[in-house]
Amino acid sequence: MSPNVLTTPVRAMLVLGTRPEAIKLAPVARAMAASPLFEPVVVSTGQHREMLQQMLELLRVPASVELDVMRDRQELSKLTARLVDGLGDVIRAERPDVVIVQGDTTTALTGALAAFYEHIPVAHVEAGLRTGVLDNPFPEELNRRLIGRMARWHFAPTPRAAGHLRAEGVPDAEVFVTGNTVIDNLLWVLQEGTGRDHFRTGLRRVLVTLHRRENQGDKMRAMGTALRRLADRGDVEIVLPLHKSPAVREALLPELTGHDRINVVEPLDYVDFSATLAGCDLVMTDSGGIQEEAPSLGKPALVLRTTTERPEAVEAGAARLVGTEPHVILDAAMHLLDDAAAYERMSTAGNPFGDGHATDRIVAQLAEDFGADADAAPAPSPLVVTQPDGPGSYSTA
Ligand code: UD1
Ligand code: UDP
Repeated sequence: MSPNVLTTPVRAMLVLGTRPEAIKLAPVARAMAASPLFEPVVVSTGQHREMLQQMLELLRVPASVELDVMRDRQELSKLTARLVDGLGDVIRAERPDVVIVQGDTTTALTGALAAFYEHIPVAHVEAGLRTGVLDNPFPEELNRRLIGRMARWHFAPTPRAAGHLRAEGVPDAEVFVTGNTVIDNLLWVLQEGTGRDHFRTGLRRVLVTLHRRENQGDKMRAMGTALRRLADRGDVEIVLPLHKSPAVREALLPELTGHDRINVVEPLDYVDFSATLAGCDLVMTDSGGIQEEAPSLGKPALVLRTTTERPEAVEAGAARLVGTEPHVILDAAMHLLDDAAAYERMSTAGNPFGDGHATDRIVAQLAEDFGADADAAPAPSPLVVTQPDGPGSYSTA
């Protein structure tokens, strides 16, 4: 679907529903709100409730429309149905010129689908990430592949992601390597805010997050046991901001509560989370966004998953994909804490996810394609990269 060439402002609907979408679309919403070329309409689906609200307030992204789709222990099929229904109504009422979605959540998938049904062109931010394994992560790998079939603009964070899209037949002219907007936001937050680091001791500081559906249940419980054994070392303090999902809480809380050196906290706002990340020695996570942020702050990341769609960090040497076996993740953490040379190599490997100007490139490209005044939106310089661009992804298999 092609854009109509318009007189400005371009009415751009940004659809977001979860914590990472708010974080990664916030700079785009702020840039559009500050530009005479765009009229942003932020739609908050409420797929997440508390964790989303916390981000929207902090990142200064007021939502024009709010849906309230979250249910306790929501099933994917019902969540999807509520979202397509609600977003279809919103898009028919608002008639945007473009719908912008981010990443691979159910909100992103249904935002793209509802826009497609209304013949509104879709822009996909963080396009082209692939593990190559359809059900891992579940259901995100399917979601992003489907969004890739519907989008008109594919804003790929890295050359590798762009390579995946081209290999799937997406025309070259629709793929743009921009960097990841998470870096734009992280730099903005570190500059704007004075966050509180949630570590309490001078011990070795390990920041942990876990939430993925495919890890929930026994697997996550066993990972919790491994974390407890890590804290038993005596010289380690763990801070774990706990996702609101009841399934995550059921798996982790029995393993992690009652230990002197494990500090389980409610989800941190982004300013505090960034400060805690900046203050830690080591990250252990199954999060997507944290895999991108940790290398920007020189923090070695152990990825507690069997696949990653962000192999760039592994290739750069900043992250290690260690899987989900308890003894393997425990050994990997012990090794990094004990081997100063290995630690040094990982912490100095660098950030492959962009230069903090992804938003400028996205906004300028949309402005150009909608025929907006080029003088009012000077083209930013291209992202300088040295990574390979062929298809590829990583798994521990
Ligand atoms: C979703 C995304 C995942 C992303 C993650 C970010 C999908 C399919 N998955 O997974 O890609 O990595 O968000 O965190 O879109 N809940 C609350 N309060 C909140 C948020 C969640 O109570 O503020 C509970 C709800 O009961 C919900 C459960 O957590 O049932 C899981 O939330 P859901 O959005 O379905 O999936 P996530 O695992 O968060
Ligand atoms: N984050 C946060 N507070 C927390 C935990 C994470 O602000 O307590 C931020 C983190 O900096 C990252 C994003 O949330 O930008 C990642 O969200 P999550 O792990 O829920 O989702 P994913 O990135 O895996 O989709």
